[in-house]
Amino acid sequence: MTAAERARELRALLQHHDDLYYLRDAPEISDEAYDELFRELRSIEADHPELVTLDSPTQRVGGAPLDGFPTIEHAAPMLSLDSDKEPDALRRFDERLAKLLGEPPTYVVEPKLDGLSIELVYEQGVLVRAVTRGDGRRGEGVTENVRTISSLALRLRDDRRPVPPFLSLRGEIILRIAPFEALNERLLAEGKSPFANPRNAAAGSLRQLDPQLTASRPLDIYLYDILSAPGLELASQREVHQALTDWGLRSNELVESADSVDQVLAYHARLGAARDDLPYEIDGIVIKLDDLAAREGLGTTARFPRWAFAFKYPPRREVTRILDIIPSVGRTGVVTPVALMRPVEIGGVTVSRATLHNREEVERKDVRKGDLIRIQRAGDVIPQVVEWVEEPGRERSEPFRMPELCPSCDTPLVERGPYTVCPNALDCRAQLVGRIVHLGSRDALDIEGLGEETARLLVDQELVRHLPQLFDLQAADLVELEGFAELSANNLVAGIARSGDGAEFARFLYGLGIPEVGVKVAQDLARAFGSLANLRQANVEQLMEVRGVGPRMSEAVTAFFAQPDNAELLDSLLDRVSLQEGPPVSTPAADGPLAGLKVVFTGTLPTLGRRQAKELAEAAGAEVTGSVSRTTGLVVAGEKAGSKLERAEALGVTVVDEAEFLHRLEK
Ligand code: IVH
Repeated sequence: MTAAERARELRALLQHHDDLYYLRDAPEISDEAYDELFRELRSIEADHPELVTLDSPTQRVGGAPLDGFPTIEHAAPMLSLDSDKEPDALRRFDERLAKLLGEPPTYVVEPKLDGLSIELVYEQGVLVRAVTRGDGRRGEGVTENVRTISSLALRLRDDRRPVPPFLSLRGEIILRIAPFEALNERLLAEGKSPFANPRNAAAGSLRQLDPQLTASRPLDIYLYDILSAPGLELASQREVHQALTDWGLRSNELVESADSVDQVLAYHARLGAARDDLPYEIDGIVIKLDDLAAREGLGTTARFPRWAFAFKYPPRREVTRILDIIPSVGRTGVVTPVALMRPVEIGGVTVSRATLHNREEVERKDVRKGDLIRIQRAGDVIPQVVEWVEEPGRERSEPFRMPELCPSCDTPLVERGPYTVCPNALDCRAQLVGRIVHLGSRDALDIEGLGEETARLLVDQELVRHLPQLFDLQAADLVELEGFAELSANNLVAGIARSGDGAEFARFLYGLGIPEVGVKVAQDLARAFGSLANLRQANVEQLMEVRGVGPRMSEAVTAFFAQPDNAELLDSLLDRVSLQEGPPVSTPAADGPLAGLKVVFTGTLPTLGRRQAKELAEAAGAEVTGSVSRTTGLVVAGEKAGSKLERAEALGVTVVDEAEFLHRLEK
């Protein structure tokens, strides 16, 4: 059969199965078999682009993506929640329940995760489908994409609690803030539009027709409800959470019980205060009647269950006006358009600046000086400009244009992809200010009192013309300056001196601001090479041997050290700063006896110190972590091992003593 004939046959087959699936709801082959056919067709088309036809099912990927997912009915309706952000509404909910039940209700309180509601169906303990909420009755089957969520059990554990043959669960798919920011950074660097918030990013990722793309975006999932499980007997919401955990699923670690409205209010306040520090977005708390039998009795209204209520936090979106858009030069020379706004409070924080990222993003959003704009804040992230708001009759100003010259040093700016860059790395004052701030930042040399304002003052007054001169500052120079008294001048100079006396190599390395080298990479490099001298001599191949360091990073690092200006800067810094360095710790052997294993040490080992044990494990290819989870491969327990040991035993993780650990190292 020729490629053309096979392609035609595959298209006909796929069409046939599409019909059965979408229209007659009577599929004859599994999702996997369908995907197999689909993949075969896609690969033929990739080899023979001339065979691609407009009606080929593969072309859906480029068109309306929603056409690509089957519509699937839920095992039980996925209801929405009655919600309010006023405490009075919560009290009314509580009073109504108390009246209906004839006694004060006991609640379970949970964070209301700001993600996407999803139904998971496990048959005989195996994940068979995942369906978005849709209209509550039927949603889109996004099984393949949900399968890419690495934290999700594809098969439930039944060693702690039997698993019912049919189990439909409800949970929330989220994207944590850190990967959300990383994703946006990547999109921006590729000249694409960033997502407005983690929820949109999660939705976008879940609806990718290519599961590989979904897989590259680390989604996460928390389960919180059982939609349907014939024959399963559970008494309470707390037991639901216990069952979910027993089956190896993730249920939220912040779930608590509450016996009164006051306790609910206290939980709401506590979580609200912690909101900015959580690794994911929440938009409220959910209050659920704990007693499942009592829930049955209460039933639902048309849209909401009577037994649950969402007590929301004020939205973190506000409308304000752009006073000006200014180009701001960062330490790497990238010029960022920044919106200066009429100050507005969002979720307890007053904001007056928001980044517009780059010139393409400003064009795309078309925000202009004087516009009314909607902004929002996620986590403790810098606020985002969502969109401009129409004001009928108001004349808008001209679109923002990037300047042609650097606003700080007048050097002609150059365009690099979507970014505009000042190439004058050596003398541009704004870049120097950025570098000083970065070197003094918390994860670098951690110099107290060296914020942006101070750094600008030092540069403007020409006390620091090159980064190393920071370490030559004298208190006498500073007291002359506005805003400095003798004490603050002494403190700053002492802080700078302290930071440069035996600075941790990893912190110093991060503080240099080498492109691609964040905190974690700096730590890995510092450990692997031990000293700056070793690292400076390393070539791309040697760098790539360090776990987590790829070709792009390696190139960036070697390019940085190869630059004569940087070499001079480093030498000059090292004349003033002493580093705390160590011997290189050999990079974990990818084929060592513990390769790929997550190891946790707990208690006091008879002969090995903690650090020594860690180094041995890492040299054998293990990753040493601090807490025991389902993914832990080995726990090494010594004298007085406590909760970690208990947890390991509960999770069924292998536990060994020091002797056995040493024995395994030799294998
Ligand atoms: S329970 C019938 N619990 O909030 C009760 N929902 O506005 C079903 N949500 O669509 C919901 N965290 O996507 C529940 N711990 C939690 C939740 C939660 C987030 C979402 C869910 C739902 C929406 C309701």
